[in-house]
Amino acid sequence: MMNNLKIPEHVAIIMDGNGRWAKKLGLNRVFGHKNGVKAVREAVEFCGETGIKYLTLYAFSTENWNRPQSEIEALTNLLVETIVKEVPELHKNNVRLKTIGEISSFTENVRQKLNQAIEFTSKNTGLVLTLALSYSSRWEIIEAVKQIARKVANKEITPESINENIFEQYLTTSDMPNPELIIRTSGEQRLSNFLLWQAAYSEFYFPSVLWPDFSKKDFAEAIEEFQKRERRFGKTGEQIKQEL
Ligand code: IPE
Ligand code: IPE
Ligand code: MG
Repeated sequence: MMNNLKIPEHVAIIMDGNGRWAKKLGLNRVFGHKNGVKAVREAVEFCGETGIKYLTLYAFSTENWNRPQSEIEALTNLLVETIVKEVPELHKNNVRLKTIGEISSFTENVRQKLNQAIEFTSKNTGLVLTLALSYSSRWEIIEAVKQIARKVANKEITPESINENIFEQYLTTSDMPNPELIIRTSGEQRLSNFLLWQAAYSEFYFPSVLWPDFSKKDFAEAIEEFQKRERRFGKTGEQIKQEL
Protein backbone atom coordinates (compact mmCIF):
# COMPACT_ATOMS: atom_id res chain seq x y z
CA MET A 1 0.00 0.00 0.00
CA MET A 2 1.08 3.55 -0.70
CA ASN A 3 1.92 5.71 2.32
CA ASN A 4 0.11 9.01 1.79
CA LEU A 5 2.43 10.77 4.22
CA LYS A 6 5.56 9.99 2.18
CA ILE A 7 4.64 11.27 -1.27
CA PRO A 8 7.56 12.72 -3.29
CA GLU A 9 7.28 16.37 -4.21
CA HIS A 10 8.78 15.99 -7.69
CA VAL A 11 8.61 12.97 -9.98
CA ALA A 12 10.26 12.98 -13.40
CA ILE A 13 9.38 10.43 -16.08
CA ILE A 14 11.24 9.33 -19.20
CA MET A 15 8.28 8.22 -21.30
CA ASP A 16 9.81 5.42 -23.34
CA GLY A 17 8.53 2.52 -25.45
CA ASN A 18 5.93 4.07 -27.74
CA GLY A 19 7.59 2.72 -30.88
CA ARG A 20 7.87 -0.83 -29.52
CA TRP A 21 4.26 -0.71 -28.32
CA ALA A 22 3.06 0.05 -31.86
CA LYS A 23 5.43 -2.47 -33.44
CA LYS A 24 4.04 -5.24 -31.24
CA LEU A 25 0.66 -4.56 -32.84
CA GLY A 26 2.20 -4.44 -36.30
CA LEU A 27 1.51 -0.72 -36.55
CA ASN A 28 3.43 2.44 -37.35
CA ARG A 29 5.53 4.01 -34.55
CA VAL A 30 3.40 7.16 -34.69
CA PHE A 31 0.42 5.11 -33.52
CA GLY A 32 2.40 4.42 -30.35
CA HIS A 33 3.02 8.13 -29.76
CA LYS A 34 -0.70 8.82 -30.18
CA ASN A 35 -1.53 6.21 -27.56
CA GLY A 36 1.06 7.68 -25.23
CA VAL A 37 -1.19 10.70 -24.66
CA LYS A 38 -3.61 8.58 -22.62
CA ALA A 39 -0.76 7.61 -20.28
CA VAL A 40 0.17 11.28 -19.84
CA ARG A 41 -3.42 11.99 -18.77
CA GLU A 42 -3.29 9.13 -16.26
CA ALA A 43 0.00 10.36 -14.82
CA VAL A 44 -1.28 13.94 -14.47
CA GLU A 45 -4.46 12.74 -12.77
CA PHE A 46 -2.46 10.53 -10.43
CA CYS A 47 -0.36 13.50 -9.32
CA GLY A 48 -3.51 15.52 -8.64
CA GLU A 49 -5.00 12.69 -6.59
CA THR A 50 -1.90 11.97 -4.51
CA GLY A 51 -0.54 15.48 -4.04
CA ILE A 52 2.65 15.20 -6.10
CA LYS A 53 3.46 18.85 -6.73
CA TYR A 54 5.81 18.64 -9.73
CA LEU A 55 5.65 16.25 -12.66
CA THR A 56 8.35 16.56 -15.32
CA LEU A 57 7.93 14.56 -18.52
CA TYR A 58 10.70 13.92 -21.03
CA ALA A 59 8.79 14.22 -24.27
CA PHE A 60 11.45 15.05 -26.87
CA SER A 61 15.22 15.02 -26.48
CA THR A 62 17.79 17.05 -28.39
CA GLU A 63 18.97 13.74 -29.85
CA ASN A 64 15.42 12.95 -31.06
CA TRP A 65 16.00 15.54 -33.83
CA ASN A 66 18.04 12.75 -35.46
CA ARG A 67 14.92 10.62 -36.03
CA PRO A 68 13.36 10.34 -39.50
CA GLN A 69 11.82 13.65 -40.56
CA SER A 70 8.37 12.04 -40.88
CA GLU A 71 8.42 10.93 -37.24
CA ILE A 72 9.60 14.34 -36.04
CA GLU A 73 6.74 15.99 -37.91
CA ALA A 74 4.20 13.52 -36.55
CA LEU A 75 5.50 14.09 -33.02
CA THR A 76 5.38 17.88 -33.21
CA ASN A 77 1.91 17.82 -34.79
CA LEU A 78 0.73 15.52 -32.02
CA LEU A 79 2.27 17.85 -29.44
CA VAL A 80 0.37 20.87 -30.77
CA GLU A 81 -2.90 18.93 -31.15
CA THR A 82 -2.63 17.52 -27.64
CA ILE A 83 -1.79 20.85 -26.02
CA VAL A 84 -4.72 22.57 -27.71
CA LYS A 85 -7.09 19.75 -26.80
CA GLU A 86 -5.98 19.18 -23.21
CA VAL A 87 -5.38 22.72 -21.95
CA PRO A 88 -9.01 23.42 -20.88
CA GLU A 89 -9.03 20.26 -18.75
CA LEU A 90 -5.57 21.02 -17.33
CA HIS A 91 -6.74 24.53 -16.48
CA LYS A 92 -9.89 23.19 -14.82
CA ASN A 93 -7.67 20.99 -12.66
CA ASN A 94 -5.50 23.95 -11.63
CA VAL A 95 -2.43 22.58 -13.48
CA ARG A 96 0.33 25.00 -14.47
CA LEU A 97 2.11 24.06 -17.69
CA LYS A 98 5.80 24.75 -18.20
CA THR A 99 8.45 23.70 -20.67
CA ILE A 100 12.19 23.20 -20.38
CA GLY A 101 14.44 22.81 -23.41
CA GLU A 102 15.51 24.65 -26.53
CA ILE A 103 12.02 25.77 -27.56
CA SER A 104 13.50 28.05 -30.25
CA SER A 105 14.25 24.93 -32.36
CA PHE A 106 10.52 24.40 -32.96
CA THR A 107 8.47 26.07 -35.69
CA GLU A 108 6.63 29.32 -35.05
CA ASN A 109 3.27 27.49 -34.84
CA VAL A 110 4.51 25.08 -32.18
CA ARG A 111 6.09 27.86 -30.12
CA GLN A 112 2.96 29.98 -30.34
CA LYS A 113 0.66 27.16 -29.17
CA LEU A 114 3.02 26.30 -26.33
CA ASN A 115 3.29 29.90 -25.19
CA GLN A 116 -0.49 30.34 -25.26
CA ALA A 117 -0.98 27.26 -23.10
CA ILE A 118 1.76 28.35 -20.67
CA GLU A 119 0.30 31.85 -20.41
CA PHE A 120 -3.27 30.54 -20.02
CA THR A 121 -2.35 28.31 -17.06
CA SER A 122 0.31 30.56 -15.53
CA LYS A 123 -1.77 31.60 -12.51
CA ASN A 124 -2.72 28.06 -11.52
CA THR A 125 -1.48 26.84 -8.17
CA GLY A 126 -1.86 23.05 -8.43
CA LEU A 127 0.43 20.57 -10.15
CA VAL A 128 3.34 22.05 -12.08
CA LEU A 129 3.51 19.98 -15.26
CA THR A 130 6.81 20.50 -17.05
CA LEU A 131 7.36 19.15 -20.56
CA ALA A 132 10.99 18.64 -21.52
CA LEU A 133 11.01 19.49 -25.23
CA SER A 134 14.13 19.60 -27.34
CA TYR A 135 15.77 19.14 -23.98
CA SER A 136 19.10 17.66 -23.10
CA SER A 137 20.95 18.06 -19.85
CA ARG A 138 24.32 18.77 -21.45
CA TRP A 139 22.71 21.57 -23.47
CA GLU A 140 21.17 22.96 -20.27
CA ILE A 141 24.46 22.83 -18.38
CA ILE A 142 26.36 24.53 -21.21
CA GLU A 143 23.69 27.28 -21.34
CA ALA A 144 24.13 27.82 -17.60
CA VAL A 145 27.91 28.00 -17.98
CA LYS A 146 27.57 30.58 -20.76
CA GLN A 147 25.33 32.79 -18.65
CA ILE A 148 27.66 32.58 -15.67
CA ALA A 149 30.72 33.26 -17.85
CA ARG A 150 29.01 36.40 -19.18
CA LYS A 151 28.33 37.62 -15.64
CA VAL A 152 31.95 37.02 -14.69
CA ALA A 153 33.16 38.83 -17.81
CA ASN A 154 30.90 41.77 -16.87
CA LYS A 155 32.29 41.62 -13.33
CA GLU A 156 28.78 41.03 -11.95
CA ILE A 157 29.97 37.95 -10.04
CA THR A 158 33.38 36.62 -9.05
CA PRO A 159 34.53 33.09 -9.96
CA GLU A 160 35.08 32.40 -6.24
CA SER A 161 31.44 33.09 -5.41
CA ILE A 162 30.17 30.32 -7.73
CA ASN A 163 28.80 27.40 -5.74
CA GLU A 164 26.15 24.69 -6.21
CA ASN A 165 23.32 26.98 -5.16
CA ILE A 166 24.39 29.74 -7.55
CA PHE A 167 24.91 27.27 -10.41
CA GLU A 168 21.45 25.77 -9.95
CA GLN A 169 19.87 29.18 -10.39
CA TYR A 170 21.00 29.12 -14.03
CA LEU A 171 19.45 25.75 -14.84
CA THR A 172 16.02 25.56 -16.48
CA THR A 173 14.73 23.85 -13.33
CA SER A 174 15.75 26.69 -11.00
CA ASP A 175 12.18 27.13 -9.76
CA MET A 176 11.57 23.53 -8.72
CA PRO A 177 13.05 21.03 -6.28
CA ASN A 178 15.23 18.21 -7.62
CA PRO A 179 13.21 15.08 -8.46
CA GLU A 180 13.20 12.56 -5.63
CA LEU A 181 12.12 9.87 -8.10
CA ILE A 182 12.88 9.28 -11.79
CA ILE A 183 10.86 6.66 -13.63
CA ARG A 184 11.78 5.30 -17.05
CA THR A 185 9.33 2.94 -18.71
CA SER A 186 10.03 0.18 -21.27
CA GLY A 187 12.84 -1.49 -19.31
CA GLU A 188 15.66 0.71 -20.60
CA GLN A 189 17.99 1.69 -17.79
CA ARG A 190 19.64 4.92 -18.80
CA LEU A 191 19.13 8.68 -18.46
CA SER A 192 19.53 9.62 -22.14
CA ASN A 193 20.75 13.11 -21.26
CA PHE A 194 17.88 13.88 -18.87
CA LEU A 195 18.36 15.99 -15.69
CA LEU A 196 21.98 14.91 -15.13
CA TRP A 197 22.68 17.53 -12.48
CA GLN A 198 19.26 17.30 -10.84
CA ALA A 199 19.38 13.48 -10.62
CA ALA A 200 22.45 13.47 -8.36
CA TYR A 201 20.41 11.99 -5.49
CA SER A 202 17.25 10.79 -7.24
CA GLU A 203 15.91 7.30 -6.76
CA PHE A 204 15.49 5.40 -10.06
CA TYR A 205 12.71 3.05 -11.04
CA PHE A 206 12.64 1.11 -14.32
CA PRO A 207 9.35 -0.73 -14.90
CA SER A 208 9.16 -2.87 -18.03
CA VAL A 209 5.72 -1.52 -19.02
CA LEU A 210 5.77 0.38 -22.32
CA TRP A 211 4.69 4.02 -21.99
CA PRO A 212 1.23 3.77 -23.70
CA ASP A 213 0.29 1.09 -21.14
CA PHE A 214 1.53 3.05 -18.10
CA SER A 215 -1.46 3.41 -15.76
CA LYS A 216 -2.22 4.90 -12.35
CA LYS A 217 -1.62 1.43 -10.94
CA ASP A 218 1.91 1.43 -12.39
CA PHE A 219 2.51 4.91 -11.00
CA ALA A 220 1.31 3.78 -7.56
CA GLU A 221 3.70 0.81 -7.72
CA ALA A 222 6.56 3.20 -8.49
CA ILE A 223 5.66 5.32 -5.46
CA GLU A 224 5.41 2.23 -3.25
CA GLU A 225 8.87 1.13 -4.38
CA PHE A 226 10.22 4.64 -3.76
CA GLN A 227 8.81 4.55 -0.23
CA LYS A 228 10.77 1.37 0.51
CA ARG A 229 14.09 2.97 -0.37
CA GLU A 230 16.38 4.41 2.27
CA ARG A 231 17.74 7.73 1.04
CA ARG A 232 21.08 8.12 2.79
CA PHE A 233 22.74 11.14 1.12
CA GLY A 234 26.18 9.86 2.08
CA LYS A 235 25.31 9.09 5.68
CA THR A 236 25.07 5.62 7.22
CA GLY A 237 21.84 3.68 7.53
CA GLU A 238 22.13 3.95 11.33
CA GLN A 239 22.31 7.73 11.18
CA ILE A 240 19.22 7.89 8.98
CA LYS A 241 17.23 5.68 11.36
CA GLN A 242 18.19 7.92 14.28
CA GLU A 243 16.98 11.01 12.42
CA LEU A 244 13.53 9.49 11.83
C1 IPE B 1 9.36 7.48 -26.46
O1 IPE B 1 9.11 6.35 -27.23
C2 IPE B 1 8.86 8.74 -27.11
C3 IPE B 1 9.90 9.60 -27.66
C4 IPE B 1 11.19 9.41 -27.60
C5 IPE B 1 9.43 10.77 -28.36
P1 IPE B 1 10.11 5.87 -28.36
O2 IPE B 1 9.67 6.49 -29.64
O3 IPE B 1 11.51 6.10 -27.97
O4 IPE B 1 9.78 4.31 -28.40
P2 IPE B 1 10.81 3.12 -28.59
O5 IPE B 1 11.91 3.30 -27.59
O6 IPE B 1 11.31 3.18 -29.98
O7 IPE B 1 9.99 1.90 -28.31
C1 IPE C 1 14.61 9.52 -24.58
O1 IPE C 1 14.04 8.46 -25.27
C2 IPE C 1 13.82 10.74 -24.76
C3 IPE C 1 12.39 10.66 -24.50
C4 IPE C 1 11.75 9.73 -23.85
C5 IPE C 1 11.67 11.75 -25.00
P1 IPE C 1 14.77 7.74 -26.47
O2 IPE C 1 14.02 6.48 -26.68
O3 IPE C 1 14.93 8.65 -27.62
O4 IPE C 1 16.21 7.44 -25.84
P2 IPE C 1 17.43 6.59 -26.38
O5 IPE C 1 18.04 7.32 -27.50
O6 IPE C 1 16.90 5.24 -26.79
O7 IPE C 1 18.36 6.48 -25.22
MG1 MG D 1 12.89 4.97 -26.99
